[in-house]
Amino acid sequence: MPPYCLVRPFLFAMDAETAHEKTLAGLKQLNSIGLLPSGKTPGRVVNTMGITFPNPVGLAAGLDKNGECIEVWDKLGFGFVEIGTTTPRPQPGNPKPRMFRLPQKQALINRLGFNNHGVDALLRNVANARFKGILGINIGKNFDTPIERAADDYLICLQKVYPAASYVTVNISSPNTANLRQLQGESELDSLLGQLKARQLALADQYSRYVPLVLKIAPDLDDAQIINIADALRRHRIDGVIATNTTIGREGVEGMPHAEETGGLSGAPVFDKATAVVRKLSAALANELPIIGVGGITDGARAAQKLDAGATLVQIYTGIIYRGPELISECIAATKTSR
Ligand SMILES: Cc1cc2nc3c(=O)[nH]c(=O)nc-3n(C[C@H](O)[C@H](O)[C@H](O)COP(=O)(O)O)c2cc1C
Repeated sequence: MPPYCLVRPFLFAMDAETAHEKTLAGLKQLNSIGLLPSGKTPGRVVNTMGITFPNPVGLAAGLDKNGECIEVWDKLGFGFVEIGTTTPRPQPGNPKPRMFRLPQKQALINRLGFNNHGVDALLRNVANARFKGILGINIGKNFDTPIERAADDYLICLQKVYPAASYVTVNISSPNTANLRQLQGESELDSLLGQLKARQLALADQYSRYVPLVLKIAPDLDDAQIINIADALRRHRIDGVIATNTTIGREGVEGMPHAEETGGLSGAPVFDKATAVVRKLSAALANELPIIGVGGITDGARAAQKLDAGATLVQIYTGIIYRGPELISECIAATKTSR
């Protein structure tokens, strides 16, 4: 495989979403003809949520929404792979263009809106993958399901993905599905988590296998909201929390080309905000459940800082677009000696 620094100029000459599609197709092709080298960097094994992770560095949701390249991410060295967000029915997402680079800041803004082929197609891809690693499946709601009925969509997806997943992530924090983040409110969250927990326990009985449930939250929460969420997670015995999704804030990118585009900002500018949420959650959770730290990891040092702030595992998305697969081994090496 050519070094990413040689490939990147060609990709960055295309619009961001086209480059994304071509990269996925190219990696899939290389893998299918056996030309994708397996770059396993030895990492620190992490035991959490009843799962043994070969290293603490995972692929964040959204890069492989349909689970089309699961084997590729494994070969590139990730300790775990999260696919999705998937929804009960396929949906096209928002009109294009809907993904923008802010290269001076190693950032992206996206308003994709859960474009995906639906949960059944995702499960077919999972069944066809030769993958024995740790697979998170991230679930959401269709854009046209009323927010009052959101729980129905999450329950449909949970039921379907349960036997195929190592853990299931409940995404209530995308800024690109109208009203979705309302589900982080106290009574909405209480009701949603109560229903999902009951279904998880029933499914654990049915399949004689307990699959952890993880909640993914936004970085745009105040201290009181973080404490409420932490209380709800403990009360409902949720197994883990992912902090964070993209931000609707524009701190650090004001005045730059594309900064005014609607959508969620990711990459370097979200690092401080997302890490602050990890730190506050960690204090509020008192180690009762693990935190997966994501947001703005663009080098190994920042991966280690997420662990220092209280995360047990980390995930990356935007950093991969800017740094390529080298970032994975750099993060694995940097987190080898952390807590
Ligand atoms: C283009 C794009 C699409 C995304 N899609 C999803 C998604 O479908 N579900 C989800 O939970 N997070 C999604 N995310 C959020 C990422 O998983 C991650 O939480 C966020 O980008 C912060 O991490 P980063 O700075 O390493 O990118 C998406 C992010 C980007 C940039």
